[in-house]
Amino acid sequence: MIILEANNLKKYYGSGENQVKALDGVSLRIEEGELAAIVGCSGSGKSTLLHMLGGLDYPTSGTVTVAGKEIFRLNETELTIFRRRKIGFVFQSYNLVPILSVYENVVLPSELDGKKPDPKFIREILHTLGIEDKADCLPGQLSGGQQQRAAIARALAARPSIILADEPTGNLDSRSTQEVLGLLKLTGKHFHQTIVMITHNEALAQLCDRIIHVEDGKIADDTRTGGGSHEK
Ligand SMILES: Nc1ncnc2c1ncn2[C@@H]1O[C@H](COP(=O)(O)OP(=O)(O)O)[C@@H](O)[C@H]1O
Ligand SMILES: [Mg+2]
Repeated sequence: MIILEANNLKKYYGSGENQVKALDGVSLRIEEGELAAIVGCSGSGKSTLLHMLGGLDYPTSGTVTVAGKEIFRLNETELTIFRRRKIGFVFQSYNLVPILSVYENVVLPSELDGKKPDPKFIREILHTLGIEDKADCLPGQLSGGQQQRAAIARALAARPSIILADEPTGNLDSRSTQEVLGLLKLTGKHFHQTIVMITHNEALAQLCDRIIHVEDGKIADDTRTGGGSHEK
C-alpha cells in the first residue's frame, strides 16, 4: 500500500532574480513500512521536501497524499491535527524542552492533542530505545545520543504511521549513529511505521530499503538497495 505520495511538488522561495526553486517537480511514492533515505548535497532541497511531505509548510504547487488524504486541501488547523496524529518528526537539533523531564517531553505532543498518554506504551518505547532509566532526567543530564533517542521516543509516542527524520544522526559519533539507525529500524518494524530519513551518511543510506537522491530540487535517482526487509 502506498502511504505517502507526492505529485509534481514545487516549492519556490522569493521572486524574480532572487527566486530559489527549492523543489522543482518532485513526484514520489512511498510504500507502507518502507525505510527510505533521502540523500543529496547541502541546499539540494532535502529538508524542503521532508517539510512538504510532513505538511509543515504549504508547497507552491503540487500535492501530497498521506494515507489516502490530500493534506494541502486541509486548512491549517486541520493540517496541524492531522500531522500530530499521523506523523512523527525527528530533527537534528533535538528540540527537547529543557525544563521538562524526558518522560514529560515524550508525552507532550499527545497531551497537546488532548490525549491521555499510555504510560505502559511510553515505557515500552523508552525501554526499546534503551533510555528507560532516564525517564525522570532533564535533557541537560543526557548525552547527545541519549537526547536523540528521547527525541525519537517523542516522535514514536503518538504512534504515528510515518516518521520523518531530518539528519537524525547528524550530531552523533559513528557508534551512536549506527545505534540510532538500528533503533529506528527496530522500532519501525515493531510499531509498523514508515520511515523517511535525510542523511549525509552514505553507509547509513545503504542500510535503508531505498535511496532517493535529490539534486537541484529534483529527484535525480531513486534506487532500491535490495537488502531491505520491507520490500514488496
Ligand atoms: N525559508 C526559505 N527561504 C528562502 N530560501 C529557502 C528557504 N528554505 C530553504 N531555502 C533554499 O532552498 C534551497 C533548498 O534548501 P533545503 O531544502 O534546506 O536544502 P537541504 O536540506 O538539501 O540542504 C536552498 O537553496 C535554500 O537556501
Ligand atoms: Mg537540510
